[in-house]
Amino acid sequence: MDRWTAAQIKDQSGRTFIVTGANSGLGFETARQLAAHGARVVLAARSKVKGLDAVARLKASQPEAAVEFRAVDLADLDSVRAFAAAILSDGIAVDVLINNAGVMYPPRRLTPQGFESQFATNHLGHFALTGLLFDTIRHGQDARVVTVSSLEHKGGSIHFDDLTGEHSYSPRAFYQQSKFANVLFALELDRRVRAAEIPVRSVLAHPGYANTNLQSSGPTGLLKQLMKVSNRLFAQSAEMGALNELYAAVDPAAESGHFYGPNGLAGMRGYPAEVQPVASAKNVETARRLWDLSEELTGVTWDL
Ligand SMILES: NC(=O)c1ccc[n+]([C@@H]2O[C@H](COP(=O)([O-])OP(=O)(O)OC[C@H]3O[C@@H](n4cnc5c(N)ncnc54)[C@H](OP(=O)(O)O)[C@@H]3O)[C@@H](O)[C@H]2O)c1
Repeated sequence: MDRWTAAQIKDQSGRTFIVTGANSGLGFETARQLAAHGARVVLAARSKVKGLDAVARLKASQPEAAVEFRAVDLADLDSVRAFAAAILSDGIAVDVLINNAGVMYPPRRLTPQGFESQFATNHLGHFALTGLLFDTIRHGQDARVVTVSSLEHKGGSIHFDDLTGEHSYSPRAFYQQSKFANVLFALELDRRVRAAEIPVRSVLAHPGYANTNLQSSGPTGLLKQLMKVSNRLFAQSAEMGALNELYAAVDPAAESGHFYGPNGLAGMRGYPAEVQPVASAKNVETARRLWDLSEELTGVTWDL
């Protein structure tokens, strides 16, 4: 695993991947490498213009790439349901779902269903999408669900008593909550599939610190300016950051219930290596409570 790169990805012909947030940053790089290695890739993105542009950019360098855009707004559960229903009714056999899309540090906003936007996009939308597609994923070849978290999960907790930030909202604390939820979800999914002896791997990844649109699309004001400078000084490329989710998605050695992130500079840069979640994110009771709450809030219940 030392200095693992995309050159180590084996032929993925015959396998189908869904990558959320694939029009930009890490999701685009992930889709690009998967397609270059023969996979069929569904680029799930909320903007038709950006999604089709991403397909065109991929096709420009790989004319034979089996890539297609499908619209999903993860912040809107009606859109998530429509996306999943179309995948199922079109008979697309999904082998790997990469829960990559995300938004970071926006001002407080509520989604159409009344949830805080970072929790809704980064966690609830992916929880619902995975649940709705699980029956097809569980029959996939080397089936996996990859969930992209962040080093920021380490400062997170679930604000069970103020989930929408109505009483107290900080863009960073609510991003940390959503990325903490990603870890709780992926580890709980791993426990549940193992208990039910379902051959699906639930693998976690984080990109360290990668220069993408994340740092400019969510933050506002001074924070946005600071992130611009910080990106230039400290961030690695999106291509490097994407290696972690690619490793989690395709490498035979990537294990269910394990977490992969960069191996250098305090986890911010480098090649994929196994990393550890913060101890509180491994708490089984918190994970169960979040799972039950997520089922209640999304209306998506799992039959494992
Ligand atoms: N970059 C980093 O340093 C870093 C560090 C830790 C974790 N991460 C995680 O990595 C993942 C990918 O982020 P990135 O860095 O590649 O950022 P990015 O370039 O901004 O890409 C994020 C993607 O998510 C999509 N997205 C946002 N809200 C959405 C919604 N409601 N529905 C559907 N798609 C939505 C964006 O679409 P639009 O283009 O339409 O906005 C974009 O395609 C995120 O989960 C992020 O938390 C990134």
